[in-house]
Formats: sequence, C-alpha cells, structure tokens
Amino acid sequence: MNHWDERYAGAEYFYGTQPNDFLREHAAAIPAGGAVLCLGEGEGRNAAFLATRGHHVTALDQSAVGLGKARQLAKERGVKIETIVADLESYRLDAACWDGIVSIWCHLPSAVRAAVHRQVIDALKPRGVLLLEAYTPKQLKHGTGGPKSVDLLPSLADLRDELSGLEFVHAVELERTVAEGRGHAGLSAVVQIVACKKA
Ligand SMILES: C[S@@+](CC[C@H](N)C(=O)[O-])C[C@H]1O[C@@H](n2cnc3c(N)ncnc32)[C@H](O)[C@@H]1O
Repeated sequence: MNHWDERYAGAEYFYGTQPNDFLREHAAAIPAGGAVLCLGEGEGRNAAFLATRGHHVTALDQSAVGLGKARQLAKERGVKIETIVADLESYRLDAACWDGIVSIWCHLPSAVRAAVHRQVIDALKPRGVLLLEAYTPKQLKHGTGGPKSVDLLPSLADLRDELSGLEFVHAVELERTVAEGRGHAGLSAVVQIVACKKA
C-alpha cells in the first residue's frame, strides 16, 4: 500500500466531497458534454462534479483506494466515471482525445511534470481546455497543505514554459483561502491556469 492508499484508507474523504473552488468557477470553459481526463484525481470529488455537469469523465490516479472511493462518490451522485490506476511517470496519454484535462493539486517531480505537460498539449483535442491549480513554492511559508519539497511546486513561469503552445486564457499566481476537507485548510499560495488548444 503506497502513501496515498494509506491516506485514503478511511471512510472520510481527505479533501472532502465538494469540488475544488477554482474548478467550479471555470468548469464552463470545458466544451459541453466533452470527454474529460482528471489527472491525480484521488478520491474523485472533481470527477464526480464534472460528471454531474454532463461530461464523460475519466479519473486517473496511482491510488486504487482513492479511485475506489471516486467510483463510490460518483454512484452516490447518480453518475458514472471511468477510472485508470496508473503512475503518471510511466503512463502515456493518447493524442487528441480529450476536450478537457483537469489537474488539481497533481504535484509531480519537476521532470515528470514537464514530461506530462508535453503530453497534455498533444492529448487535448483542438479547442480542448486545460484547467490546472497547484501550490507554488511560496506555499512552503504557509504550511496550510501541499507538498513540502520545492521540486514538486511549480511557479507560473514554470507552467508557462512547460505548456507553451497552449493559449493562456487565465494564468495567475495568487493567495487564496483553501478549505478542502482535512487536507487543505487556510491561506495558500497557488497558481491557476485555464489554457486552450488552438483550433
Ligand atoms: C493532493 S492529491 C489531490 C487529489 C485530487 N486531485 C483532489 O483535488 O482532490 C494528489 C493526488 O495525486 C496523485 N498522484 C501523485 N503522484 C502521482 C503519479 N505519479 N501518478 C498518478 N497519480 C499521482 C496522488 O495519488 C493523489 O491522489
């Protein structure tokens, strides 16, 4: 059992069952009814939310325990999601399949993250949209959630570089209060991206 399986082992949803605030605010940017891939989706709160909006959602995570709870949450909401247990370090995304790719707190080592982001650009369909929120290196001062290693924390400049080729609709670093279950609570330094694949 890996670290994340242990974290998700209880009945509680570690980050709650409500979607991430940034995702809720920007979900309408994803083409209606489209296929959406959620990277590092954990216990499925964002996937379940997007499925209730009429998207065909696939949740990918390395934690089988988290994705089991994700399927359960979707069932409770009366929707279905697909799940893929995979490690993003070795998994390869197929080209041009997704109307939306969602990455919420999917913190990966910088080299893995850059490789995944190169694939994200190819994996989006024309007019497909990436929605991403992550903690930045400044979050280390806050201690209100997120990784403790700076290598896992992207700046906006890192993401602009890794995702160049996409059209940035919203790209900001800001401080905001995050309240998500037991996992994330308090003023936080985050980066948010809404970026579109050119037609
Ligand atoms: C902070 S949690 C966020 C979960 C979910 N996105 C949410 O907002 O509730 C980070 C997730 O990324 C997953 N993850 C981390 N490294 C991964 C990797 N290399 N491959 C696949 N998933 C990974 C973890 O298993 C965990 O579920």
